[in-house]
Amino acid sequence: MQIDLDYTGRHVVVFGGTTGINFGIAQAFARQRARVTVASRKQDNVDAAVASLREAGAEVHGVVADVRDFEAVGAAFVQSVARFGPVDVLVSGAAGNFLCAAEAMSSNGFKVVVDIDLVGSFHVLRQAHAHLRKPGASVIQITAPQSFVPMRYQAHAGAAKAGVDQLTRTLALEWGREGIRVNSISPGPIDGTEGFRKLMAPTAEDRAFAQEQVPLRRFGSLDDIANLALFLGSPYAGYISGALIPCDGGGALESVKPALEAAGRRALG
Ligand code: COA
Ligand code: NAP
Repeated sequence: MQIDLDYTGRHVVVFGGTTGINFGIAQAFARQRARVTVASRKQDNVDAAVASLREAGAEVHGVVADVRDFEAVGAAFVQSVARFGPVDVLVSGAAGNFLCAAEAMSSNGFKVVVDIDLVGSFHVLRQAHAHLRKPGASVIQITAPQSFVPMRYQAHAGAAKAGVDQLTRTLALEWGREGIRVNSISPGPIDGTEGFRKLMAPTAEDRAFAQEQVPLRRFGSLDDIANLALFLGSPYAGYISGALIPCDGGGALESVKPALEAAGRRALG
Protein backbone atom coordinates (compact mmCIF):
# COMPACT_ATOMS: atom_id res chain seq x y z
CA MET A 1 0.00 0.00 0.00
CA GLN A 2 1.65 3.20 -1.16
CA ILE A 3 0.83 6.88 -0.87
CA ASP A 4 0.19 8.64 -4.14
CA LEU A 5 2.41 11.66 -4.84
CA ASP A 6 3.22 12.90 -8.29
CA TYR A 7 6.96 12.92 -9.02
CA THR A 8 6.59 13.37 -12.79
CA GLY A 9 9.83 14.74 -14.28
CA ARG A 10 11.65 14.74 -10.93
CA HIS A 11 15.09 13.14 -10.77
CA VAL A 12 15.58 10.74 -7.86
CA VAL A 13 19.00 9.17 -7.21
CA VAL A 14 19.21 6.13 -4.94
CA PHE A 15 22.75 5.14 -3.93
CA GLY A 16 22.90 1.52 -2.84
CA GLY A 17 19.57 1.38 -4.64
CA THR A 18 19.69 -1.99 -6.39
CA THR A 19 18.43 -4.38 -3.70
CA GLY A 20 16.37 -4.53 -0.51
CA ILE A 21 14.99 -1.45 1.24
CA ASN A 22 16.67 1.03 -1.09
CA PHE A 23 15.43 -0.76 -4.22
CA GLY A 24 11.94 -0.68 -2.65
CA ILE A 25 12.36 3.10 -2.41
CA ALA A 26 13.54 3.32 -6.04
CA GLN A 27 10.51 1.28 -7.16
CA ALA A 28 8.14 3.53 -5.21
CA PHE A 29 9.52 6.73 -6.79
CA ALA A 30 9.40 5.07 -10.23
CA ARG A 31 5.74 4.20 -9.65
CA GLN A 32 5.14 7.90 -8.95
CA ARG A 33 6.59 8.68 -12.40
CA ALA A 34 10.02 9.96 -11.27
CA ARG A 35 13.14 9.54 -13.39
CA VAL A 36 15.25 7.23 -11.28
CA THR A 37 19.00 6.64 -11.08
CA VAL A 38 20.14 3.57 -9.12
CA ALA A 39 23.78 2.97 -8.21
CA SER A 40 25.71 0.21 -6.45
CA ARG A 41 28.91 -1.86 -6.64
CA LYS A 42 27.87 -4.93 -8.55
CA GLN A 43 27.11 -4.86 -12.25
CA ASP A 44 24.62 -7.74 -11.99
CA ASN A 45 22.65 -5.97 -9.25
CA VAL A 46 22.57 -2.76 -11.29
CA ASP A 47 21.49 -4.63 -14.44
CA ALA A 48 18.72 -6.50 -12.61
CA ALA A 49 17.40 -3.35 -10.91
CA VAL A 50 17.41 -1.36 -14.17
CA ALA A 51 15.66 -4.18 -16.06
CA SER A 52 12.99 -4.53 -13.38
CA LEU A 53 12.30 -0.77 -13.15
CA ARG A 54 12.24 -0.44 -16.94
CA GLU A 55 9.84 -3.35 -17.26
CA ALA A 56 7.52 -1.47 -14.91
CA GLY A 57 7.64 1.46 -17.33
CA ALA A 58 10.10 3.76 -15.53
CA GLU A 59 12.71 6.08 -17.03
CA VAL A 60 15.79 4.71 -15.34
CA HIS A 61 19.55 5.03 -15.39
CA GLY A 62 21.89 2.54 -13.72
CA VAL A 63 25.47 3.22 -12.61
CA VAL A 64 28.11 0.95 -11.13
CA ALA A 65 29.96 2.81 -8.38
CA ASP A 66 31.46 1.80 -5.05
CA VAL A 67 30.71 4.50 -2.45
CA ARG A 68 34.26 4.05 -1.11
CA ASP A 69 35.58 5.45 -4.41
CA PHE A 70 35.13 9.24 -4.29
CA GLU A 71 35.90 9.74 -7.99
CA ALA A 72 33.55 6.97 -9.12
CA VAL A 73 30.73 8.49 -7.05
CA GLY A 74 31.38 11.89 -8.65
CA ALA A 75 31.35 10.38 -12.13
CA ALA A 76 28.02 8.67 -11.35
CA PHE A 77 26.41 12.04 -10.58
CA VAL A 78 27.88 13.70 -13.69
CA GLN A 79 26.47 10.87 -15.86
CA SER A 80 23.05 10.76 -14.29
CA VAL A 81 22.58 14.54 -14.22
CA ALA A 82 23.58 14.77 -17.90
CA ARG A 83 20.72 12.37 -18.57
CA PHE A 84 17.96 13.44 -16.16
CA GLY A 85 18.91 16.93 -14.91
CA PRO A 86 19.49 18.24 -11.35
CA VAL A 87 18.76 15.89 -8.47
CA ASP A 88 15.45 16.54 -6.68
CA VAL A 89 15.70 13.67 -4.21
CA LEU A 90 18.88 11.89 -3.13
CA VAL A 91 18.65 8.68 -1.11
CA SER A 92 21.95 7.51 0.39
CA GLY A 93 21.59 3.97 1.69
CA ALA A 94 24.62 1.86 0.76
CA ALA A 95 25.72 -0.21 3.75
CA GLY A 96 27.44 -3.39 4.83
CA ASN A 97 27.11 -5.26 8.10
CA PHE A 98 27.77 -8.50 9.97
CA LEU A 99 27.46 -9.67 13.55
CA CYS A 100 30.76 -9.71 15.44
CA ALA A 101 31.84 -9.24 19.03
CA ALA A 102 34.15 -6.23 19.36
CA GLU A 103 37.01 -8.26 20.84
CA ALA A 104 36.92 -10.61 17.82
CA MET A 105 36.60 -7.89 15.20
CA SER A 106 39.69 -7.19 13.08
CA SER A 107 40.76 -3.63 12.40
CA ASN A 108 39.81 -4.14 8.76
CA GLY A 109 36.41 -5.55 9.73
CA PHE A 110 35.63 -2.38 11.69
CA LYS A 111 37.07 -0.20 8.95
CA VAL A 112 35.19 -1.80 6.07
CA VAL A 113 31.81 -0.98 7.61
CA VAL A 114 32.84 2.57 8.55
CA ASP A 115 34.24 3.05 5.04
CA ILE A 116 31.01 1.93 3.35
CA ASP A 117 28.41 3.39 5.71
CA LEU A 118 30.01 6.60 6.96
CA VAL A 119 32.80 7.62 4.59
CA GLY A 120 30.69 6.35 1.69
CA SER A 121 27.73 8.50 2.79
CA PHE A 122 30.01 11.53 2.98
CA HIS A 123 31.26 10.78 -0.54
CA VAL A 124 27.71 10.50 -1.86
CA LEU A 125 26.43 13.71 -0.23
CA ARG A 126 29.63 15.66 -0.97
CA GLN A 127 29.64 14.69 -4.66
CA ALA A 128 25.88 15.24 -4.94
CA HIS A 129 25.95 18.78 -3.58
CA ALA A 130 26.90 20.50 -6.85
CA HIS A 131 24.11 18.63 -8.64
CA LEU A 132 21.24 19.07 -6.15
CA ARG A 133 18.31 21.28 -7.13
CA LYS A 134 18.61 24.52 -5.19
CA PRO A 135 16.23 25.37 -3.65
CA GLY A 136 14.07 22.32 -3.18
CA ALA A 137 16.26 19.20 -3.00
CA SER A 138 15.58 16.59 -0.34
CA VAL A 139 18.41 14.37 0.90
CA ILE A 140 17.43 11.18 2.73
CA GLN A 141 19.98 9.04 4.52
CA ILE A 142 19.10 5.47 5.47
CA THR A 143 20.46 4.84 8.93
CA ALA A 144 19.65 2.24 11.64
CA PRO A 145 18.57 2.03 15.30
CA GLN A 146 22.15 1.02 16.24
CA SER A 147 23.04 4.69 15.77
CA PHE A 148 21.19 5.69 18.93
CA VAL A 149 20.52 2.38 20.75
CA PRO A 150 23.87 0.70 21.46
CA MET A 151 23.73 -3.00 20.52
CA ARG A 152 26.11 -5.84 21.19
CA TYR A 153 28.02 -7.20 18.13
CA GLN A 154 27.40 -3.92 16.30
CA ALA A 155 30.41 -1.76 17.34
CA HIS A 156 31.28 -1.05 13.70
CA ALA A 157 27.75 -0.39 12.37
CA GLY A 158 26.67 1.54 15.50
CA ALA A 159 29.65 3.87 15.26
CA ALA A 160 29.24 4.29 11.50
CA LYS A 161 25.49 5.00 11.57
CA ALA A 162 25.87 7.42 14.51
CA GLY A 163 28.29 9.29 12.26
CA VAL A 164 25.82 9.15 9.38
CA ASP A 165 23.15 10.77 11.58
CA GLN A 166 25.49 13.50 12.74
CA LEU A 167 26.33 14.13 9.07
CA THR A 168 22.58 14.52 8.48
CA ARG A 169 22.31 17.17 11.20
CA THR A 170 25.48 19.01 10.21
CA LEU A 171 24.57 19.21 6.52
CA ALA A 172 21.01 20.24 7.37
CA LEU A 173 22.64 23.21 9.13
CA GLU A 174 25.10 23.99 6.34
CA TRP A 175 22.80 23.43 3.35
CA GLY A 176 19.56 24.79 4.78
CA ARG A 177 20.22 28.27 3.44
CA GLU A 178 20.37 26.81 -0.07
CA GLY A 179 16.91 25.32 0.41
CA ILE A 180 18.21 21.76 0.75
CA ARG A 181 16.62 19.54 3.41
CA VAL A 182 18.61 16.63 4.92
CA ASN A 183 16.98 13.89 7.02
CA SER A 184 17.63 10.34 8.20
CA ILE A 185 15.19 7.42 8.10
CA SER A 186 15.92 4.70 10.65
CA PRO A 187 14.17 1.48 9.57
CA GLY A 188 13.26 -1.19 12.08
CA PRO A 189 13.44 -4.88 11.13
CA ILE A 190 12.24 -5.03 7.51
CA ASP A 191 11.14 -8.51 6.53
CA GLY A 192 12.74 -10.22 3.52
CA THR A 193 15.83 -7.99 3.37
CA GLU A 194 19.52 -8.82 3.60
CA GLY A 195 19.97 -6.81 6.79
CA PHE A 196 17.09 -8.67 8.42
CA ARG A 197 18.49 -12.06 7.36
CA LYS A 198 21.98 -11.22 8.56
CA LEU A 199 21.15 -9.61 11.88
CA MET A 200 17.70 -10.30 13.20
CA ALA A 201 16.45 -13.74 12.44
CA PRO A 202 18.85 -16.51 11.57
CA THR A 203 16.36 -19.08 12.97
CA ALA A 204 12.57 -19.45 13.21
CA GLU A 205 12.90 -19.13 16.98
CA ASP A 206 14.77 -15.82 16.63
CA ARG A 207 12.12 -14.62 14.21
CA ALA A 208 9.25 -15.33 16.58
CA PHE A 209 11.07 -13.76 19.52
CA ALA A 210 11.99 -10.66 17.49
CA GLN A 211 8.40 -10.15 16.33
CA GLU A 212 7.13 -10.23 19.92
CA GLN A 213 9.56 -7.46 20.83
CA VAL A 214 8.20 -4.96 18.29
CA PRO A 215 5.49 -2.88 20.02
CA LEU A 216 3.27 -3.11 16.89
CA ARG A 217 3.89 -6.91 16.80
CA ARG A 218 4.89 -7.04 13.15
CA PHE A 219 8.00 -6.61 11.06
CA GLY A 220 8.19 -3.70 8.64
CA SER A 221 7.67 -3.91 4.88
CA LEU A 222 9.45 -2.23 1.98
CA ASP A 223 6.37 -0.03 1.55
CA ASP A 224 6.57 1.20 5.15
CA ILE A 225 9.98 2.73 4.42
CA ALA A 226 9.20 3.79 0.83
CA ASN A 227 6.12 5.73 1.98
CA LEU A 228 8.22 7.75 4.41
CA ALA A 229 10.79 8.43 1.68
CA LEU A 230 8.04 9.56 -0.73
CA PHE A 231 6.74 11.93 1.94
CA LEU A 232 10.20 13.30 2.87
CA GLY A 233 11.02 13.89 -0.78
CA SER A 234 7.86 15.93 -1.30
CA PRO A 235 6.90 19.55 -0.55
CA TYR A 236 4.53 18.20 2.13
CA ALA A 237 7.68 17.65 4.22
CA GLY A 238 8.99 21.11 3.27
CA TYR A 239 9.70 22.21 6.87
CA ILE A 240 11.36 18.98 8.04
CA SER A 241 15.16 19.07 8.09
CA GLY A 242 17.86 17.64 10.33
CA ALA A 243 15.46 14.99 11.65
CA LEU A 244 16.13 11.36 12.48
CA ILE A 245 12.85 9.56 11.90
CA PRO A 246 12.44 5.98 13.11
CA CYS A 247 10.09 3.85 11.00
CA ASP A 248 10.10 0.75 13.12
CA GLY A 249 6.76 -0.04 14.76
CA GLY A 250 8.08 1.50 17.97
CA GLY A 251 11.04 -0.90 18.10
CA ALA A 252 13.64 1.78 18.80
CA LEU A 253 11.99 2.30 22.17
CA GLU A 254 14.63 -0.30 23.12
CA SER A 255 12.60 -3.45 22.65
CA VAL A 256 14.16 -4.90 19.47
CA LYS A 257 17.53 -4.78 21.17
CA PRO A 258 17.12 -8.00 23.18
CA ALA A 259 15.92 -9.78 20.04
CA LEU A 260 18.90 -8.71 17.97
CA GLU A 261 21.29 -9.57 20.76
CA ALA A 262 19.74 -13.01 21.31
CA ALA A 263 20.02 -13.74 17.58
CA GLY A 264 23.63 -12.59 17.69
CA ARG A 265 24.46 -14.81 20.69
CA ARG A 266 23.01 -17.83 18.90
CA ALA A 267 24.72 -17.03 15.59
CA LEU A 268 28.11 -16.48 17.22
CA GLY A 269 27.83 -19.46 19.57
N1 COA B 1 32.66 -11.58 11.01
C1 COA B 1 33.84 -11.00 11.29
N2 COA B 1 34.58 -10.30 10.37
C2 COA B 1 34.07 -10.22 9.12
C3 COA B 1 32.84 -10.81 8.75
C4 COA B 1 32.12 -11.52 9.76
N3 COA B 1 30.94 -12.11 9.51
N4 COA B 1 32.61 -10.55 7.43
C5 COA B 1 33.66 -9.82 6.99
N5 COA B 1 34.53 -9.62 8.01
C6 COA B 1 35.82 -8.93 7.95
C7 COA B 1 36.77 -9.69 7.04
O1 COA B 1 37.40 -10.77 7.73
C8 COA B 1 37.75 -8.59 6.62
O2 COA B 1 38.70 -8.33 7.63
P1 COA B 1 40.23 -8.94 7.54
O3 COA B 1 40.84 -8.39 6.30
O4 COA B 1 40.88 -8.49 8.81
O5 COA B 1 40.07 -10.46 7.48
C9 COA B 1 36.87 -7.36 6.55
O6 COA B 1 35.68 -7.66 7.29
C10 COA B 1 36.50 -7.02 5.12
O7 COA B 1 35.85 -8.12 4.53
P2 COA B 1 35.69 -8.27 2.95
O8 COA B 1 34.87 -9.50 2.70
O9 COA B 1 37.03 -8.17 2.28
O10 COA B 1 34.89 -6.92 2.59
P3 COA B 1 34.02 -6.57 1.32
O11 COA B 1 34.28 -5.15 1.01
O12 COA B 1 34.15 -7.59 0.24
O13 COA B 1 32.49 -6.74 1.90
C11 COA B 1 31.08 -6.60 3.84
C12 COA B 1 31.97 -5.86 2.85
C13 COA B 1 31.94 -7.48 4.74
C14 COA B 1 30.42 -5.55 4.70
C15 COA B 1 30.03 -7.52 3.12
O14 COA B 1 29.26 -8.16 4.10
C16 COA B 1 29.13 -6.78 2.17
O15 COA B 1 29.50 -6.52 1.03
N6 COA B 1 27.91 -6.41 2.59
C17 COA B 1 26.90 -5.71 1.77
C18 COA B 1 25.52 -6.27 2.03
C19 COA B 1 25.07 -6.12 3.46
O16 COA B 1 25.82 -6.33 4.41
N7 COA B 1 23.79 -5.78 3.60
C20 COA B 1 23.19 -5.55 4.88
C21 COA B 1 23.07 -4.09 5.13
S1 COA B 1 22.45 -3.82 6.78
P1 NAP C 1 20.96 -4.67 1.07
O1 NAP C 1 19.88 -5.28 0.24
O2 NAP C 1 22.24 -5.42 1.22
O3 NAP C 1 21.23 -3.19 0.53
C1 NAP C 1 22.49 -2.61 0.50
C2 NAP C 1 22.66 -1.93 -0.83
O4 NAP C 1 23.89 -1.19 -0.82
C3 NAP C 1 22.76 -2.90 -2.00
O5 NAP C 1 22.09 -2.35 -3.12
C4 NAP C 1 24.25 -3.00 -2.29
O6 NAP C 1 24.43 -3.35 -3.67
C5 NAP C 1 24.69 -1.59 -1.92
N1 NAP C 1 26.07 -1.49 -1.49
C6 NAP C 1 26.71 -2.21 -0.53
N2 NAP C 1 27.99 -1.83 -0.43
C7 NAP C 1 28.15 -0.84 -1.34
C8 NAP C 1 29.25 -0.04 -1.72
N3 NAP C 1 30.46 -0.19 -1.13
N4 NAP C 1 29.09 0.89 -2.69
C9 NAP C 1 27.88 1.04 -3.31
N5 NAP C 1 26.80 0.32 -3.00
C10 NAP C 1 26.95 -0.62 -2.02
O7 NAP C 1 20.47 -4.40 2.56
P2 NAP C 1 19.12 -3.84 3.24
O8 NAP C 1 18.91 -4.73 4.42
O9 NAP C 1 18.05 -3.61 2.30
O10 NAP C 1 19.67 -2.45 3.84
C11 NAP C 1 19.48 -1.21 3.17
C12 NAP C 1 19.73 -0.05 4.13
O11 NAP C 1 18.79 -0.12 5.22
C13 NAP C 1 21.11 -0.05 4.76
O12 NAP C 1 21.55 1.29 4.86
C14 NAP C 1 20.87 -0.64 6.13
O13 NAP C 1 21.83 -0.24 7.07
C15 NAP C 1 19.50 -0.07 6.46
N6 NAP C 1 18.74 -0.83 7.46
C16 NAP C 1 18.23 -2.06 7.14
C17 NAP C 1 17.43 -2.73 8.06
C18 NAP C 1 16.77 -4.05 7.71
O14 NAP C 1 15.95 -4.58 8.47
N7 NAP C 1 17.09 -4.61 6.57
C19 NAP C 1 17.19 -2.17 9.34
C20 NAP C 1 17.77 -0.94 9.63
C21 NAP C 1 18.53 -0.27 8.70
P3 NAP C 1 25.83 -3.96 -4.23
O15 NAP C 1 26.07 -5.22 -3.46
O16 NAP C 1 25.58 -4.13 -5.70
O17 NAP C 1 26.86 -2.91 -3.96
